[in-house]
Amino acid sequence: MRLQNRVAVITGAASGIGRASADLFAAEGANVLAVDLPGQGLNEAHKDRDNIATLEQNVADKGAPGRIIEEVTGRFGRLDIVFNNAGVSRNELAELQSEANWDLTLDVNLKAQFLLIQAAIPHLKVAPAGRIINTASVMARMTDYGLIAYCASKAGVAGMTRTLALELGKYGITANYIEPGAIYTGLTRKNFEDEKIAGIWARKAALRRLGQPIDIARGALFLASDDAGFVSGHGLVVDGGLTLRT
Ligand SMILES: NC(=O)c1ccc[n+]([C@@H]2O[C@H](COP(=O)([O-])OP(=O)(O)OC[C@H]3O[C@@H](n4cnc5c(N)ncnc54)[C@H](O)[C@@H]3O)[C@@H](O)[C@H]2O)c1
Repeated sequence: MRLQNRVAVITGAASGIGRASADLFAAEGANVLAVDLPGQGLNEAHKDRDNIATLEQNVADKGAPGRIIEEVTGRFGRLDIVFNNAGVSRNELAELQSEANWDLTLDVNLKAQFLLIQAAIPHLKVAPAGRIINTASVMARMTDYGLIAYCASKAGVAGMTRTLALELGKYGITANYIEPGAIYTGLTRKNFEDEKIAGIWARKAALRRLGQPIDIARGALFLASDDAGFVSGHGLVVDGGLTLRT
């Protein structure tokens, strides 16, 4: 029970990494507010756990941070852990990049993370061990064709998180980000349902397999727990060795 008596917000929690993390955090004793877009099966995903509440909310909407913080503190009376995980990825080459895709990607993947953290800071400051965890990606350091907006957003998450770690450390708050590799989730399902593509990505990793949502959830649990009490400003790579070589 590594998160006994802790309260966490997890975004993007209807599917993939966020869903697995909500489940794992709840199993470790946390009360969790799971947030995702309407129509993504959020309530169904968490109906079996009494200590997971749900909120259907677009994290990029104006007013979303206030609503999320109000909901979690109203329900559970405090807030210890913010796990910013909701994310989008649409392939568009730089030359053909639409402003709409650029804005959506940066708004959801980066700006919404920042605004939620900003709204959470007063609560994290009074928590005994405030924790900020942001999902970045190995694409914070690497790249691929069509990922210009995604890579920019994830590199932004890394820089933002290091700054938060520096500024908030004096309040006992840690801020870290996770760099998942190739993980089989809602985001990647379309690609990885193709056995050939899945095989190529599995072989690229030293561990010779795709990651599963639980692999990342375990990393997030470590960063949320007392075990990571002296870890801050760190990018935790959870990629099975995908990015070890050129
Ligand atoms: N799957 C991978 O290989 C991989 C690799 C690196 C990083 N990531 C990152 O992991 C995070 C989780 O993605 P996943 O792979 O579990 O995919 P996923 O599609 O299974 O889950 C993402 C969730 O975020 C939600 N979401 C999207 N936009 C939202 C918004 N505006 N408001 C609220 N919720 C929103 C989606 O509805 C979805 O349920 C993302 O930040 C993604 O960039 C994934």
